[in-house]
Amino acid sequence: MDKFVIEGGRPLKGVVQVGGAKNAALPILAATLLAEGKCRFRNVPDLRDIKTLLRILQELGAEIGRGEDGTLEIEMVYERNVTATYELVSKMRASFCVLGPLLARRGQARVSLPGGCVIGNRPIDLHLKGLRALGAEIEVRHGYVESRCKRLKGGEVYLGGHSGSTVLGTANVMMAATLAEGETTIVNAACEPEIQDLAGFLVKMGGKIEGAGSSQMRITGVERLQGVEYSVIPDRVEAGTFLVAGAITGGDVTVRGASSEHLSAVIDILKEVGVSLEKTDDGIRVKGPSTLKAVDVTTLPYPGFPTDIQAQLMVLLSVANGISVITEKIYPDRFMHVAELNRLGAQIRKEGPSAIVLGVKGLSGAPVMASDLRASAALVLAGLRAKGTTEVHRVYHIDRGYERIEERLESLGARIRREEE
Ligand code: EPU
Repeated sequence: MDKFVIEGGRPLKGVVQVGGAKNAALPILAATLLAEGKCRFRNVPDLRDIKTLLRILQELGAEIGRGEDGTLEIEMVYERNVTATYELVSKMRASFCVLGPLLARRGQARVSLPGGCVIGNRPIDLHLKGLRALGAEIEVRHGYVESRCKRLKGGEVYLGGHSGSTVLGTANVMMAATLAEGETTIVNAACEPEIQDLAGFLVKMGGKIEGAGSSQMRITGVERLQGVEYSVIPDRVEAGTFLVAGAITGGDVTVRGASSEHLSAVIDILKEVGVSLEKTDDGIRVKGPSTLKAVDVTTLPYPGFPTDIQAQLMVLLSVANGISVITEKIYPDRFMHVAELNRLGAQIRKEGPSAIVLGVKGLSGAPVMASDLRASAALVLAGLRAKGTTEVHRVYHIDRGYERIEERLESLGARIRREEE
């Protein structure tokens, strides 16, 4: 297992390129299960989570290769296996989005229940509700979701849960509906850019989808979808993480590829905190101010402030002037980073689904433990700001969602190195 050793207190300066969006690439790659012929992808990040999904697709009969120009190529050559095993699905919840396409294309699917998750309870009831509305017979047996259908039939489904819609649930139903007979309406569909990107891919393959990016989506089923070339959108969470890195170190960083449109809630909050942000031709330039202001923030579904940047923002607010309240409306227990940030000198108290952040003057380096992907990113940001040495243990979490983050931060002037424990 690796750890990061960070010598903090250096302002980051320069240009950093954002990679392809992990959370767009995962359902898009799963959608290759629907295609006839080869798909070619650009801008798929080289991440642990992507590798896990590719292994599942391989087990489900995909031939995977690299084109001469570095593109990722996927072709389904063997369509008989319909099982996604516990061994792989339990590694990453997003694997569950092979269920919809498998069912639509092969008439049968056996997908392991994803199991527990450190960021809180993450049920799959809405995924199943959506697929049942299309006529799938579904039973949960021995830890597996077993489902079958003749041909799925379009229907109307409401995908709202206690915290709004579901991103991967919308993806699952949408993918299944593209090959269903007739028309499907998803009411309270997720509006995230990653869903819009998946819709873009499905439409390019020949799917008929209207309203992607809004809360009501209409999908008209087609007989077949063809393999195509596609380029994945830039990762808004990674971009947001680099913006906070520039801001918290008092640096001057241009995040190339960052989409201002996808980050409007984040930009709005960062400006309120006092960070200077400027849209450039190909990204966003951030300059960290000498003093930061406290703000209150609530995470919400898109276009609200994303839960995936909550931990990173908390680090910034931990050194702001005043008291901030961060309320988590998507995953009320996603606060594993609080105790670790307090080890670095932050003063944060959890109160139900909120964290009360009392800004302190500075942070001081210490050993800390990463618990999940975004919490790990937050600890790295804290280490960049803290005086002295911070060791972030268990960084395998960060490798799930950020490609070679230490090299990219180093290119901006950070002192960070990876060491084997
Ligand atoms: N929910 C239900 N029932 C369901 C599904 C979800 O009640 O059947 C609830 C969840 O408990 C949660 C809310 O609905 O309270 C939203 O969950 P959602 O289903 O939208 O999450 P997800 O699709 O499983 C994706 C991202 C997460 C991100 C969330 C929210 C991927 C691969 N994952 O998860 O990303 O936090 O949307 O935006 O796209 C990450 O990248 O670090 C990450 C966790």
